[in-house]
Amino acid sequence: MFESFTTKIRNAKKIVFVTGAGISQESGIPTFRGKDGLWRNYDAMKLATIDAFYDNPKLVWEWYIERRKNIFCAEPNLGHKAIAELEKFVQVIVLTQNIDGLHQRAGSSEVLELHGSIIKIKCTVCDFRCEILTEFEHIPPLCKCGNILRPDVVWFGESLPQKIWQQAIVHASKCDVLIIAGTSLIVSPANTLPIYAKQNNAILIEINPEETIMSSDMDLSIRSTSVAALSELVSVFK
Ligand code: APR
Repeated sequence: MFESFTTKIRNAKKIVFVTGAGISQESGIPTFRGKDGLWRNYDAMKLATIDAFYDNPKLVWEWYIERRKNIFCAEPNLGHKAIAELEKFVQVIVLTQNIDGLHQRAGSSEVLELHGSIIKIKCTVCDFRCEILTEFEHIPPLCKCGNILRPDVVWFGESLPQKIWQQAIVHASKCDVLIIAGTSLIVSPANTLPIYAKQNNAILIEINPEETIMSSDMDLSIRSTSVAALSELVSVFK
């Protein structure tokens, strides 16, 4: 799969991954826009906006609790593990849109969560934030200050955590190879990261069983699942 870029990949000092829901699909976590994607079965505007949350915090929380259960019993797959293993050979940074924490569970040491984490919660009013793996006593859960707690994730219409986004731009702008795996590249600003990498003449490689809106801008666009392709990528270094 990587023959035409083997030398460039082997000589890379820094490889940055931009990942999306597709990389966790083989761990049993549905994508958003794929065949059985979440947004095919649920209305994003009723579940993933701040207005939807204030309209019906119980509904939104019940949906996130269902997703937490699914994610907590999922395991990192060979795609996640391959990215972690690459750290033996080259500097690897993971810029993920996923909130499932599977990259970290696979052993990746440098992961930036662009859209937050389903493990984290925060108060809608005070500065309280924390990680919680256990179930909630009350739905919606309340902060010590008496206000509602919300999932610490980025909803439609909300800005990304600025410090993380600025770091992501710097990493993308300074990499030798940018590998885009398992994302439709529909959502911004994450879908601008390939542009920052290209400005630095990085090699752009896409891994996706389906074509995306940016496939023609890639140096290499591989029609494959992330498990198959990323496992082979590791063998490029061995
Ligand atoms: N391996 C690699 N890619 C896959 C696999 C697989 N096994 N299975 C599906 N894909 C691809 C699909 O072809 C699709 O292009 O993964 C992509 C998933 O795209 P989306 O469902 O749009 O997910 P993503 O790009 O991560 O969405 C971005 O949108 O809903 C918001 O905040 C949410 O972070 C999410 C953002």
